Amino acid sequence: MMRAVVFDRFGGPEVLHLGEVPEPEAGPGQVRVRVEAVGLNAFDGKVRSGAMEAQFRTRLPAVPGLEVAGVVDQVGADVAGVVEGDRVTGWTSRGAAELAILKLWAPVPDGLDAPQAAALPVAGEAARRALRILDLKPGETLLVHGASGGVGGLATQLAVAAGVRVIGTASPANQERVAAYGATPTTYGAGLVDRVRALAPVVDAVLDTAGSGVLPDSIELRGGTDRVLTLTDPAAHGLGVELNERSEPSASELAELAGMVVRGEVSVPVAKVIPLADAARAQALVDDRRAGGKVVLVP
Ligand SMILES: NC(=O)c1ccc[n+]([C@@H]2O[C@H](COP(=O)([O-])OP(=O)(O)OC[C@H]3O[C@@H](n4cnc5c(N)ncnc54)[C@H](OP(=O)(O)O)[C@@H]3O)[C@@H](O)[C@H]2O)c1
Repeated sequence: MMRAVVFDRFGGPEVLHLGEVPEPEAGPGQVRVRVEAVGLNAFDGKVRSGAMEAQFRTRLPAVPGLEVAGVVDQVGADVAGVVEGDRVTGWTSRGAAELAILKLWAPVPDGLDAPQAAALPVAGEAARRALRILDLKPGETLLVHGASGGVGGLATQLAVAAGVRVIGTASPANQERVAAYGATPTTYGAGLVDRVRALAPVVDAVLDTAGSGVLPDSIELRGGTDRVLTLTDPAAHGLGVELNERSEPSASELAELAGMVVRGEVSVPVAKVIPLADAARAQALVDDRRAGGKVVLVP
């Protein structure tokens, strides 16, 4: 048996507690890692609350955690290029535990610590997918809602690195962080359209990672729904805006992103590193979007 974060019923973050569950075994095409860090996501909260039950069933007791970094301790059949003892990061489905099974992974380069590595798979994939869809050219202007967050922070930096001008919204406390990502920061809330217009007469594309009713202002700023993309706001359907939730995980893209971090081209927006035993407090920060970046658990 091993220690894991468990929930036995659907509910708020308080249903998360430490428990004992059977150790998983690596199947064909998989590796098992001794977990060093687990990235938390809003999706973990949606599954735990029961909000996803209409789309897929979660068998209880369940273990949350979609992304981990750790040391390989078991290699499944038909797996090449990785051996026991290698440090890897990647996608899982029950990561908040001492051991986790990875279905897709990339090596952790020297110089990348475990919390940073564990924070990359989900947010990195979403950020890169969003930028691919928006197809930005150097010199264009992108408005990112939630630029201080996990996905928004990476999307902002990747766009800036590609020569795009980024205007990023964040709370007053996170303006400096967004500026450090190379973007022009502004606050969200009333008067947003005027503030953005004063910074940029033309907005070529909008990425919404905040999901807080910013789409009407975004359409106004963009002058239509073309190249307005949300990763999170279901209001998109009624407004003719694309809501994209089709994850396209790629080991090579994850490895490339990890390399960019080590070379200092991108910084990982890790806001909090919290012990596994405090999973409820950690996930509450994520659910309430109060973390100001990624929240990572460490066993
Ligand atoms: N579609 C997909 O495939 C996909 C993939 C990954 C994530 N997501 C979704 O994308 C969203 C962002 O994920 P994340 O991991 O980046 O979360 P996060 O780190 O919590 O970031 C959310 C950001 O939203 C900002 N925010 C909070 N209230 C706001 C408001 N009223 N107006 C504007 N911004 C506000 C926060 O900025 P301040 O702290 O500065 O207030 C925060 O940085 C989540 O809903 C998640 O479920 C979707």
